[in-house]
Amino acid sequence: MKLFIDTANIDHIKEMNALGIISGVTTNPSLCSKEGKDFKSSIAEIASIVNGPISAEAVSTTRDGIIQEARELSQIASNIVVKIPIMEEGLAATKVLSAEGIKINMTLVFSANQALLAAQVGAAYVSPFIGRLDDIGHDGIAELDKIVTIYDIYDIKTEIISASIRHPLHVIQSAQVGADIATIPYNILKQMLKHPLTDIGIERFLEDWKKLQETASPIK
Ligand code: G3P
Repeated sequence: MKLFIDTANIDHIKEMNALGIISGVTTNPSLCSKEGKDFKSSIAEIASIVNGPISAEAVSTTRDGIIQEARELSQIASNIVVKIPIMEEGLAATKVLSAEGIKINMTLVFSANQALLAAQVGAAYVSPFIGRLDDIGHDGIAELDKIVTIYDIYDIKTEIISASIRHPLHVIQSAQVGADIATIPYNILKQMLKHPLTDIGIERFLEDWKKLQETASPIK
């Protein structure tokens, strides 16, 4: 499973990209608004930092508006993927845009039925929102599992991005059910790395190494 970072924060993207653990970025209007910077120039900067798919969301609500906006966004850089919400206008726009070779990430997906529809119109990616399903007492991972199973049965090429991830266990569960990608907030990527036994282990190795330097006799 590939890991993307789910943020529009340039510093966080640079930091995780430098570690070599992310292969793409997803943003949404809420994440971009949090940064308070010009949307298109931020997306262009992100696309120049990470050598992988960068999702930028279209906010138009009509078919023609979404098509025009998506065409403009796709011009920003060759690795731009346009995020389009799953609604009637979004499906119709995706059908046209996919045929033009513009990669679409169908977003705000909460059911296997919606994921099936996204695949019909040629979406390159589909983003089921796991955490938001859990928030309302549903089982986000169970819905993701259904999508993976159905896509596998029919050999559907649309890649599944497990999104709206709330904690490190969601990442493991996404991998266990076979999501292609998990898009993960910065703080959760940091949590994934941490283990108290690793910290204790590093400390102990360094202490013991220091002791060896102090006691060992020099080689003649
Ligand atoms: O990228 C979209 C998705 O990950 C949103 O997450 O935390 O707003 O439910 P959240």
